[in-house]
Amino acid sequence: MKSRYTRRTFLKTTSATLITGSLSSSSAHLLAANVRGVDKPAILGGTPVRSAPFSSTWPIYDDHEAQALVGALNSRNWCCLRGHLVYDFEKTFAAAMGAKQCVLSNGGTTALRASLQCLGVGAGDEVITTPHTFIATINEICNGHALPVFVDIDPRTGSIDAELIEAAITEHTRAILPVHLSGFPADIEKIMAVANKHGIPVVEDACQSVFAEVNGRKVGTFGATGCISFQEWKSLVCGEGGAMLGNDPQLMRRCAAYVNNGRDPAGEISGYPFAGSNHRMTEFQAAILTEQFKRFKNQDAARQKNGRYVEEALTQIAGLTQRKRYAENTRITYFRLELDYDRKAFADVPAATFARALRAEGIPFSGGPRNYGRGCHKEGMLEAHLRSRGFETAFSTARLRKYRDSLRLPVMDGLTAGAGEILSMDSKIPLLGTQREMDQIVEAVRKVAAHCDALKIA
Ligand SMILES: Cc1ncc(COP(=O)(O)O)c(C=O)c1O
Repeated sequence: MKSRYTRRTFLKTTSATLITGSLSSSSAHLLAANVRGVDKPAILGGTPVRSAPFSSTWPIYDDHEAQALVGALNSRNWCCLRGHLVYDFEKTFAAAMGAKQCVLSNGGTTALRASLQCLGVGAGDEVITTPHTFIATINEICNGHALPVFVDIDPRTGSIDAELIEAAITEHTRAILPVHLSGFPADIEKIMAVANKHGIPVVEDACQSVFAEVNGRKVGTFGATGCISFQEWKSLVCGEGGAMLGNDPQLMRRCAAYVNNGRDPAGEISGYPFAGSNHRMTEFQAAILTEQFKRFKNQDAARQKNGRYVEEALTQIAGLTQRKRYAENTRITYFRLELDYDRKAFADVPAATFARALRAEGIPFSGGPRNYGRGCHKEGMLEAHLRSRGFETAFSTARLRKYRDSLRLPVMDGLTAGAGEILSMDSKIPLLGTQREMDQIVEAVRKVAAHCDALKIA
């Protein structure tokens, strides 16, 4: 059975070690950590565990990126239509992800736009999705004059509750759009089962979760398309950029045409036979992405190693629990480190206060309801669309009224009110650090946990 590291056992072992005096080198190391640990938290005037930034920076680059950029510059083929870097990377990335095809675009947002458009989602349609996502997911449903039908979230994960999807399907449902947030897969196998039963295509928003897997398969390769973002704050980056993955050649042909003003990528039909826009990635973006992908493989392995180490250590502390995985064989990416936080175990200290104390220790945690706590169904953009001429033309007044009435989501709205707290850390940088930095993350959390009573008063 797993040992639980409570504040009481922490204080007990620390003082027992102090009294006995004789130490092996490993217990000396532990003692050093513990002695620092019983110091006053930095937020109360103690010494912070870390006073310098983490050793890793972001984004990480060197001469390889510089040379690749200069190479693209000197080629005088800055647009992908005359270059080869974009098309080469499409092949590399499709193979690495286990998809038959990849189409690159200038962002994850435009990858979502192209996917929905090419699946025929349009005015008057409904797309089932989650309220708990970055707004880009919802923007692209609405920009196609379709209604985002919000299904409540699973309180254990913050992902769309797959059990509730079937009840949300209507004759107007044209797609299901689940989101794999923070490197954690949604319940994608269950979602696919419901979608397949009803013959509804799935567009996966895997923008935050490149290289997450369920039962050996990468997220973004389950649905009709899967969308990835290479925007600078993600874990595989080129400033701005995106990808669509898919296995259906005709759909991918339309997607490739869509990002290129409707030209046929197969070159069989001349002119502009498909719906389109210009969402092309430049050769400069592809030059950086190609180099970054070489680094990404090592970075991903480091995050796995360090993420597991920190997660394992922190979940020894009573009140911090590993976030639920839907399938036993799930690979999360540690893009964010997220732990469930039970404030009862921490003298009722809110997760936000606990995280503030950690930041004072030099460890960049945040705390509170899940990331996008308010929920996209509460954003003003929704009403702006509902009142637009496009929506008023596409939907009857009665349908829009019914839709507005449906925008109540007990679990999501409950999270906003303070239930279901988490501690989370944007970990793409910290988890690339040294072993000492990993130990300091753990040490800081233990230290703050040991002083919750004082924190409550602070
Ligand atoms: C869940 C989610 N979907 C879509 C996007 C949009 O990606 P991009 O910024 O590349 O347009 C993001 C980016 O933050 C995201 O986090």
